[in-house]
Amino acid sequence: MRAPLIAGNWKMHTTVREARDLASGVASGLAGIADVDVVVCPPFTALAEVGRALGGSPVELGAQDLHWESEGAYTGEISAAMLWDLGCTYVIVGHSERRRLLGEEDEAVGRKVAAAASGELIPILCVGESLDEREAGRTERIIQTQARIGTLGLASEQAAQLVVAYEPVWAIGTGVPATGAEAGRIARLLREWLGEWFGDAAAGIRILYGGSVTPETIGEFVSQPEVDGALVGGASLNAGAFAAIVRAVAV
Ligand code: 13P
Repeated sequence: MRAPLIAGNWKMHTTVREARDLASGVASGLAGIADVDVVVCPPFTALAEVGRALGGSPVELGAQDLHWESEGAYTGEISAAMLWDLGCTYVIVGHSERRRLLGEEDEAVGRKVAAAASGELIPILCVGESLDEREAGRTERIIQTQARIGTLGLASEQAAQLVVAYEPVWAIGTGVPATGAEAGRIARLLREWLGEWFGDAAAGIRILYGGSVTPETIGEFVSQPEVDGALVGGASLNAGAFAAIVRAVAV
């Protein structure tokens, strides 16, 4: 009942021209694929061009961040309405790189998730523990807190649209993914907690794994009953690798 989802996070990569070429490669590499939702999240500067390059393909457009206000004196920020205007349907919120490197805190993440949902965008809320937190035995506590505060502004009917991505910080960009069993265990816990907070809506929330996902490792994650897909970083910058990840889920 939950459609699998593969999301590509291009992070701070690609000029407009590179982004257009990559988007075209992804769209043509996925021709004929059904039953998997696919979204690419280029940098803000390339959203319009990627939207044009994807035109007519089922691949959807997402952004990597947004501000919680709809407009105003917030220099450098981008609102949900601006993203929607460009054709975005998804937005990544609370990525660990923003939390760790840019000081984004749980409360701000929660406001952004609420703003995205109110702005007709599907939030992809990222949660995950650092290596230190993991070694200190705090993994579950950290993830539960991030997920709770991150979703506090959502009504139950909005929660059904939510996507949560479990991205352990130590697995991002390291080539050392979590095991499928570990991702499955955290996804199960997340769904239990989401059930306590949102009731039946939790059954519809898609939970992704992210962190060093490749065409070789994707199968291990999506074979877990509570893992509905992946948030892919590095491998999403290669159209062939990204398409191979999607194809592995479609099979
Ligand atoms: P990598 O796939 O490069 O490890 O990045 C994961 C990620 O941060 C996606 O948001």
